Amino acid sequence: MTAYGDDVCTLRVCRDCCCGTATKHPGVDHDGLLDRLESRTRGRARVLRSACLLACDESNVVVVSPSPAGRRRGGRPVWVRRVLDADAVDAITDWVAAGGPGVAPVTPEAAAGAFAPTSLARGYLET
Ligand code: FES
Repeated sequence: MTAYGDDVCTLRVCRDCCCGTATKHPGVDHDGLLDRLESRTRGRARVLRSACLLACDESNVVVVSPSPAGRRRGGRPVWVRRVLDADAVDAITDWVAAGGPGVAPVTPEAAAGAFAPTSLARGYLET
């Protein structure tokens, strides 16, 4: 168990050169979406801001990592692309509310945005 709790997932929200920028995604309320993600997962997930996750073509990227309990049950990080509106945020938060990777089946809405990162990006996340 971690200091955060056995059932607490981790969300890495990329905020760097592309993700979260008005330059790449004008007209998107990036701060509002991050607030929504945090408020809807409070007590269920740690929300971390990340430097570039080396998947800029998929921005905005969020990585949903399992809770310790979810990891013991086989859950692994799931990378989600194009988190650019409230529906995309809610797809993640609804899944996390149900337990996230390893605990609850990925919802169709979250699965729709899932993608396989490059080995370079995956390795970067694990460092
Ligand atoms: S800025 Fe998010 S993947 Fe590069």
